[in-house]
Amino acid sequence: MKIGILTSGGDCPGLNAVIRGMVLKGVISYDTEFVGFRNGWRGVVEEDLMPIVRHDVRGLAKQGGTILGSSRTNPFEGEGGGPEKIQAMLDRNGIDAIVAIGGEGTLTAARRLYDEGGIKVIGVPKTIDNDLAATDYSFGFDTAVQIATEAIDRLRTTADSHGRCMVLEVMGRHVGWIALHSGMAGGAHAILIPEQPQTIEQITEWVESVRDRGRAPLVVVAEGFKFEGMEEAHSHKGLDAFNRPRLGGIAELLAPMIEERTGIESRATVLGHIQRGGEPTAFDRVLATRLGMAAVDAAYNDAWGSMVTLRGTSIATVSIADAVGTLNQVPQARYDEAKILFG
Ligand code: F6P
Repeated sequence: MKIGILTSGGDCPGLNAVIRGMVLKGVISYDTEFVGFRNGWRGVVEEDLMPIVRHDVRGLAKQGGTILGSSRTNPFEGEGGGPEKIQAMLDRNGIDAIVAIGGEGTLTAARRLYDEGGIKVIGVPKTIDNDLAATDYSFGFDTAVQIATEAIDRLRTTADSHGRCMVLEVMGRHVGWIALHSGMAGGAHAILIPEQPQTIEQITEWVESVRDRGRAPLVVVAEGFKFEGMEEAHSHKGLDAFNRPRLGGIAELLAPMIEERTGIESRATVLGHIQRGGEPTAFDRVLATRLGMAAVDAAYNDAWGSMVTLRGTSIATVSIADAVGTLNQVPQARYDEAKILFG
């Protein structure tokens, strides 16, 4: 079998480890041939591909980013887009199937290509936000939490020196897993997430109670957090290629509000793409490698239209159609558990 691999959407530490896991498993167990599509679906639509042999994935598990590049191209658009043209391109290149590594948008597009054109696809879920309900954890999340936790640790030492309030903004468009886990790990005094709108009065109360104990308050806020009554998350940077508002900047709004109400000098740090760069943690390398290997097995089991996922500690295969469309939100009980320690 000849399999085409693509990485699509926002990148994520662990993408290269998936590619390596696939190639090693395929070459060792099945004598599979691989090609990579450059820049996600754009490489499919524009027939831009490159062979990948075992030698190419040497030492790749620890490398951040993706050797294939990524884009937010829609495979149903453009001259070479749509199931018929894509199937013709696959036939021309002798490619039997596509393994698409991506988030909600990528997986939905992959499933549509299967439903509408019978294109043989397998999905591998990718999101640092950990917002896909189909998988207990996605690779990249652990790395992002590790980076955010280190940022909190660093902010706390300088905050203590100056008696300042620090507001750290982390990623998390729809869900607050990165904020929750890094906030708990770093001992944050308040964690603000998209699922749990709060009032500025409540946030101020937490901050003041920390100050009253003689400590420097540390607030973690997810980029998608909304104050009570806000319809949409704060955005002032226009739209991305999927017409979604580019988020980022809520910390810069929040810090002055805290300072004004409490009199505590307050500073904002927006962690941004630092969370998505660099080497994946050991946990993410293992998860990504296992998912990559399982994706190849899924292809040889003819599990077309499905994706590989983590269920507990086991890798499973589920239909993409059943898997996408539901967000993996932070449950109320997990937030309540963390909230006891706020203030
Ligand atoms: O979806 C993952 C994510 O990291 C979000 O948390 C964030 O809003 C978005 O990607 C940023 O995307 P981009 O790299 O296109 O700015």
